[in-house]
Amino acid sequence: MLPDAARLLLCPVCRNSLTFRGDRLACPEGHSFDAARQGYFNLLVGKGTVFEADTAAMVAARFDFLSSGHYRPLADAVAELAAAALRGADAAVLDAGTGTGHYLNALLAVAPASAIGLDISKFALRRAARMNPDAVNLVSDVWQPLPVADAAVDVVTVVFAPRNAAEFARVLRPGGRLIVVTPRSGHLAEIAGQTGMLGIEPAKEERLAASLAGHFAQRSTRELDLDLGLEPADVGNLALMGPAGHHLDPAALDAIIAALPPLTQVSARFRISVFEPLEQPPA
Ligand SMILES: C[S@@+](CC[C@H](N)C(=O)[O-])C[C@H]1O[C@@H](n2cnc3c(N)ncnc32)[C@H](O)[C@@H]1O
Ligand SMILES: [Zn+2]
Repeated sequence: MLPDAARLLLCPVCRNSLTFRGDRLACPEGHSFDAARQGYFNLLVGKGTVFEADTAAMVAARFDFLSSGHYRPLADAVAELAAAALRGADAAVLDAGTGTGHYLNALLAVAPASAIGLDISKFALRRAARMNPDAVNLVSDVWQPLPVADAAVDVVTVVFAPRNAAEFARVLRPGGRLIVVTPRSGHLAEIAGQTGMLGIEPAKEERLAASLAGHFAQRSTRELDLDLGLEPADVGNLALMGPAGHHLDPAALDAIIAALPPLTQVSARFRISVFEPLEQPPA
């Protein structure tokens, strides 16, 4: 049995600690949050986000693509870096923008830890809750104060998801690690134009470091390139699972997929960057 991550959670309304009451999460002020049928908790309060959450179809495409194992070396590399930063019997990790939970799953397979998976999309959380039943999976907006205590986790992982530097620094323990995966220039270039994917904006290394400056210092960076031989269905899933999935015309995409050869060679280019929180001046 993995340690329980609920001890690390704060009520999104009053910021008191949350604990399990039966299968609900509740705080001493009486705010309480039921588990959805699939096991995740919706901690979104107020207006929520102005961002467009991934749809059920986009999440299904992501699930199918990641289950095919093409990105497994990336998941293994992130898991290895994260495992090295987990400390002691109460080791804890937050996967921000957890999506279908595949990356958190790969980490928990090599390093048991209290785990929080957080995403704005309830469709993603349905999958993540099934993928990682021992984690606490939360619908929450990364741009709001996170429902996580100060200095609660050893590692924050962010794989192709938004980064709230101040909040990630707050929830990390001193000496903890923020592990960020971003695409590099040329990522999926062979199919990007063809499938109508929005131009993947390569997150320039300097821009990533600049967006975290003031809260984090960069510790290391690693480039990972994968040469993939993709079947037409894989190409379709890749096109649908990204930001372009909000806008793609399914009939047009089907026509493009139908015309593809049995295997398309595609290069995936990732950067894995590791950051350490700076000591914050006392408030
Ligand atoms: C490109 S997906 C990556 C998902 C997962 N990390 C992966 O690589 O498979 C980006 C994820 O960030 C989530 N996301 C976008 N905006 C968010 C926000 N404001 N707060 C929390 N999650 C957000 C999306 O719902 C989506 O699951
Ligand atoms: Zn409360």
